[in-house]
Amino acid sequence: MGELPRHVAVIMDGNGRWAQKRLLPRSAGHAAGLKRMIALSEYLFRRGVEVVTLYALSQENLSRSEEELSALFALFRQYFAGSVERLAKNDLRLDVIGDTSLLPEDILSLIESGKERTKEGGRGTLVLAIAYGARQDIVSAVNRAVRAGKEVTEGEFSALLSTGAYPPPDLLVRTGKEKRLSNFLLFESAYAELYFSDKMFPDFSDADMERALGDYATRDRRYGKVKTQ
Ligand code: FPP
Repeated sequence: MGELPRHVAVIMDGNGRWAQKRLLPRSAGHAAGLKRMIALSEYLFRRGVEVVTLYALSQENLSRSEEELSALFALFRQYFAGSVERLAKNDLRLDVIGDTSLLPEDILSLIESGKERTKEGGRGTLVLAIAYGARQDIVSAVNRAVRAGKEVTEGEFSALLSTGAYPPPDLLVRTGKEKRLSNFLLFESAYAELYFSDKMFPDFSDADMERALGDYATRDRRYGKVKTQ
């Protein structure tokens, strides 16, 4: 068995197409996606991954129809109200990255209390990217450095990003057939191994993730260097 990634990031794409194919509303795709998201993250922590970062909503997604957004917000409420206890029981910490001030206030307080309730979690961290945009995050970090009035090193800059507390992603998985990063963890993923699946997210099973982990284990990570043997 090869190496296991410490940090796995997932772009959970394809909920809408999953639903359309079944003649269901897009919201049904997101509901199925949420169910899969919970099981898949538990699978990754059981496998020993320390940090799991999931792209739940981009800042750009906030311009989707009011109907779709309110269905997504209802799922966030359901998740934060119902799943935080389970994270705490599993000794997992919840973190949320993104501009959460763009979210309804009640969701903001659910997020804050979820983070507080799970802050002792030592087995791993589930990072949900909500109203997140990597470019926006980079610009905020630049502004923080400018306000501090000093030039920063690469390491100091990384620490100013919203993901500053975590190691960079080792494996970045995108479901749903598209092959792009869509403004997700752009700085952090400089040397992430990329894995693309044609499956729509609600169909992306634990076995599919195991295949992604197996594929990762065969990668030769050189970080731009020449291998000396
Ligand atoms: C992308 O699929 C997926 C989203 C925009 C939402 C993902 C959200 C979840 C899986 C539920 C998250 C819930 C919590 C509590 C974090 P898409 O709608 O862009 O699919 P499409 O490309 O097929 O249209």
